[in-house]
Amino acid sequence: MRQWEFYHHISSFSLKKEVLSKSLKSVKQKKVIPLPILPNKNMHDLYHLLWNRRSTRKYSKNEVSIKELSILLNYSFMDTYTEKYVGRTYPSAGALQSLNYYIIVLNSKRLQKGIYIYESSNREIKLLKKGDASNDLVKISGKQKWAKNTPIYIVITGDFSKIVAKYGERGYRHVLLEAGHAAQNVYLVSESLHLGCCAIGGFYDNALDKLLDLKRTRKSIYILTIGHV
Ligand SMILES: Cc1cc2nc3c(=O)[nH]c(=O)nc-3n(C[C@H](O)[C@H](O)[C@H](O)COP(=O)(O)O)c2cc1C
Repeated sequence: MRQWEFYHHISSFSLKKEVLSKSLKSVKQKKVIPLPILPNKNMHDLYHLLWNRRSTRKYSKNEVSIKELSILLNYSFMDTYTEKYVGRTYPSAGALQSLNYYIIVLNSKRLQKGIYIYESSNREIKLLKKGDASNDLVKISGKQKWAKNTPIYIVITGDFSKIVAKYGERGYRHVLLEAGHAAQNVYLVSESLHLGCCAIGGFYDNALDKLLDLKRTRKSIYILTIGHV
């Protein structure tokens, strides 16, 4: 068994094959149903955001303003309320809200360079560490040199304590999926603000966890770089 198969296996739920009915038959001649792109006036803006979204790795020196950062972080991650519970702007496995967001500022006139944490309930960022993290980030992101000129980094971290207690090893998959939902919000909100955005999945985990001073149950999952194009 390959490593990934093993990982998939240990995080799988199994149901015996015999429990499936025999009511479905394979089709020999495949019936094709065309699905044209249809206009939908209620979805006009969303359509354009989805269509135009691209990963951008070259950023200008124009700073990301606090107003743009507020829109970006709040629309992507903030708490949303129903009568029954507090959610966020993306779905969350078991509504356990296993993600946290660290914002690393490398280039801003108004914001001090350093590492901040985003608080989704109060819609604010808190400075955790001050200083220039750019050289560390180039090393951490596996010498992806383009990343050095990024004004803002968002690191999505997963907290595994509650989710693994509830879902066992499957909880690990759930956190990755949740991070994907949140990251897509960042891509789309960036597009709406005419900001460039690029995901980084290839990085040195231990160094990034250390840079952020993460406790044992919290791990870095995904990086998003943001900047004006
Ligand atoms: C899980 C994941 C990890 C990624 N990691 C990196 C990365 O480490 N470096 C990078 O430059 N781009 C990374 N990307 C961006 C992809 O290269 C990009 O999405 C792909 O080339 C398609 O381009 P598009 O996003 O413009 O459609 C990643 C994307 C995903 C979904």
